[in-house]
Amino acid sequence: MTAFADPTPGYATYPDLRDKRVVITGGGSGIGGELVRAFVGQGARVWFLDIADAPGQALAAALHAAPHAPRFLHCDLLDLDALAASFAAIEHEAGGIDILLNNAANDDRHRIEDVTPAYWENRMAVNLRHQFFCAQAAVGSMRRQQAGVILNFGSISWHLPHTELALYMTAKAAIEGLSRALARDLGPDQIRVNTVVPGAVRTPRQEALWHTPDEENRILAGQCLPARVEMQDVAALSLFLASNNARRCSGREYFVDAGWYGA
Ligand SMILES: NC(=O)c1ccc[n+]([C@@H]2O[C@H](COP(=O)([O-])OP(=O)(O)OC[C@H]3O[C@@H](n4cnc5c(N)ncnc54)[C@H](O)[C@@H]3O)[C@@H](O)[C@H]2O)c1
Repeated sequence: MTAFADPTPGYATYPDLRDKRVVITGGGSGIGGELVRAFVGQGARVWFLDIADAPGQALAAALHAAPHAPRFLHCDLLDLDALAASFAAIEHEAGGIDILLNNAANDDRHRIEDVTPAYWENRMAVNLRHQFFCAQAAVGSMRRQQAGVILNFGSISWHLPHTELALYMTAKAAIEGLSRALARDLGPDQIRVNTVVPGAVRTPRQEALWHTPDEENRILAGQCLPARVEMQDVAALSLFLASNNARRCSGREYFVDAGWYGA
C-alpha cells in the first residue's frame, strides 16, 4: 500500500481562541503535547497536567517565548484530591476556565483472564473517571461566565474489532455517553461538550509499540484514505471544535481517522 505523501498543513487561525484559558490533561506528550502547541499557537493561555514531568517541563520550556507561555502542572489524575487542587490553582491564577480538553489516557493491553477487580478500577480511573471529575471541576466557572467548551477524547478502538483492550474499549465507549449526558445538562448554560474520536494516530508511543511494515500496511489497508493520521490532524479538529466556528456543535462524536473501517 502506497501512502499519500502530502505535507501536514498549518493550522487555521481562530481569533476567538486568543487569550482563552485552556486546560489540557495529558499534555506532556503525544497528542496532548500537540494540543498544547496548537492552542499556544492561537495565543491561548494554556495550563497542562501530566505525570510525565520531564517531557512536560521540556515542552513548557520550548514554548516559553510564546505570547502566553504555557504552564505545566504535575498532576496524577488518578488522585482526585490532586485533580481538584490543580483545578483550584488554575482557577485562582486564571480567574476561570474557558476550554477543557480531557485527553489523558493509557491504552496498555490486557488479557481477559489477567484482569483483577483492582486492575478494572485502575483502568476506569485512568481512562474514564478523571474526564468526569475534570469537567465537574471546570463547569463552575463556565456556568458563571455562561460559556465553555469541553472536548472528551474517545477512541476508534471500540468501533473496530481490536483485541486485548477490553477495559480501555469499555472506558472509551462510555466517554461518548458521558459527552452526550454532559452536553444535555450543560447546554442551557451555553457550554458545548463533544467527543473527539481519533483513529490510528502516529504518536511517539504508538510508533514505539507497533511500528512494523505489517502493522503500517494493515492500518492503511483498513482506512478509506491510505495516509496516516498525524497528531496535527487531531489538533486541527480540536481547534475547530473549541472555537466559535463550532458554536452549534454539541453532544456529538467527531472522528478523525482517515475513514478507518477496519481491515
Ligand atoms: N494515538 C492514537 O492512535 C489514539 C487512538 C485513539 C484514541 N486516542 C486517544 O487520544 C488521547 C491521546 O492519546 P495519545 O496517543 O497521545 O496517548 P499517550 O499515551 O501518548 O499520551 C497520554 C498522556 O497522558 C498522560 N497520562 C497518563 N496517565 C496519566 C495520569 N494518571 N495523570 C496525568 N497524566 C496521565 C501520559 O503521561 C501522556 O503524556 C487519549 O485519550 C487516547 O485514548 C489515541
